[in-house]
Amino acid sequence: MRTSTKTIAILAIALLSLGAVGLAVGDSDDDDHEKHEKGGGWVKSRPDVAPVANATYSQECGSCHLAYQPGLLPALDWARIMGPDALADHYGDDASLSDALRGEIASYLVANSADQGTSSRSRAFAFVGEAAADAALPRITRTRYFVNKHDEVPARLVTGNPEVGSFSQCNSCHRGADKGIYNEDQVSIPGHGRWDD
Ligand code: HEC
Ligand code: HEC
Repeated sequence: MRTSTKTIAILAIALLSLGAVGLAVGDSDDDDHEKHEKGGGWVKSRPDVAPVANATYSQECGSCHLAYQPGLLPALDWARIMGPDALADHYGDDASLSDALRGEIASYLVANSADQGTSSRSRAFAFVGEAAADAALPRITRTRYFVNKHDEVPARLVTGNPEVGSFSQCNSCHRGADKGIYNEDQVSIPGHGRWDD
């Protein structure tokens, strides 16, 4: 069957790239980022993850929530999310696509996934931890890095906040989320304002 061949090909690419780039780059980028932020203004707008650069993806996957940057999840997780059955039961919604669109979007996500990304922030999201072994669909909001960064944000400002609803709505709090900017200086939670920790 064509679809399953395609899925296997995507998974194969994903597995190969995991081994190839996973450990290639050091982790000094993150520190540079914090340092520059205090000094020069221009770095403020430097994306933490590469912005979305695929119109089909933005259109098909950006209507119910932010079109998440591919660098927010590793390739294997994108491949799981993009399976036809997974899309038909997508976190409780039906997000089914034609095979052609699904193939184009899956290739884009896998090729630009967190384990492919060159920004330190993307690489942080590449460590999924226990979420990968879970039977349910993977989530950015369940990656270890995400949980560590958000564990001080109280539920009343998220699920208890009608203007946010859930952590999946990145752009409710991160004003630059659609450009891939997630640094904590640009967080503003609706009904609460800037975040000082
Ligand atoms: C019909 C609406 C709809 C469409 C279209 C849609 N999604 Fe979603 N998506 C959802 C809902 C609902 C959730 C769960 C949000 C929540 O828990 O608050 C979700 C969650 C997600 C998550 C997990 C976010 C997290 O919590 O970490 C990812 C990743 C995701 N979607 C990717 C995609 C991709 C890729 C596409 C395009 C193929 C897509 N979505 C299209 C409705 C949609
Ligand atoms: C309810 C508001 C809210 C939502 C929704 C939210 N965040 Fe955050 N995020 C925060 C806050 C507040 C911080 C800073 C936490 C701290 O430093 O204690 C943060 C920090 C971060 C950081 C670390 C930034 C840094 O400079 O270290 C990243 C990356 C990030 N969020 C990504 C995301 C992504 C991706 C999503 C959506 C899947 C998301 N966030 C959804 C409030 C939110």
